[in-house]
Amino acid sequence: MHNDIEKILVSEQEIQNVCKKLGKQLTKDYQGKTPLVVGILIGCVPFMAELIKHIDIPLTTEFMRASSYHGATQSSGQLTIKVDLTCPIEGKDIIIVEDIIDTGLTLKAIKELLLSRKAKSVNVVTLLDKPDGRKVEFIPEYIGVTIPKEFVVGFGLDYNELYRNLPYIGVLKPSVYEK
Ligand code: PRP
Repeated sequence: MHNDIEKILVSEQEIQNVCKKLGKQLTKDYQGKTPLVVGILIGCVPFMAELIKHIDIPLTTEFMRASSYHGATQSSGQLTIKVDLTCPIEGKDIIIVEDIIDTGLTLKAIKELLLSRKAKSVNVVTLLDKPDGRKVEFIPEYIGVTIPKEFVVGFGLDYNELYRNLPYIGVLKPSVYEK
């Protein structure tokens, strides 16, 4: 385990199992459709890569980048779209892929934006859900693991852009961000 990690919350094996389970469910629910899978950068990358291997229907992929954290451990609530989609989405069934939902502000705004662009449907799949962190009501359609209100890193999640490459989800030692 990395020296800055207090404990492992979701192991590598558990993440694999969750991706398989979610992929199977999405395969079933999107049968006969060709969804556009939209990853929200940067944190989605490892999860999206693992998840789509287990979705056994035709699909296309795109990415968006939005930011609300700005290097701090608390959400600022300010949403900025830094990278946008490169294709029109009118009439498309969209699956948004996220690493974590905390306050709900980012996803609520992105979902509303995509629906205003006339997507046929917009559903959200998140690896982690932290419901105790909500500032707005937001319920993702597909949840991997529900976690308590702790500051987690790894498998795409960062603190000051670090720790995204850890193969598990871990709780960061407070001494790291209290410096
Ligand atoms: C994280 C995460 C979500 C958002 C969720 O991204 O990937 O997009 O925060 O938080 P919220 O529910 O409080 O809005 P972040 O802005 O840290 O960007 P990153 O993926 O590039 O690290």
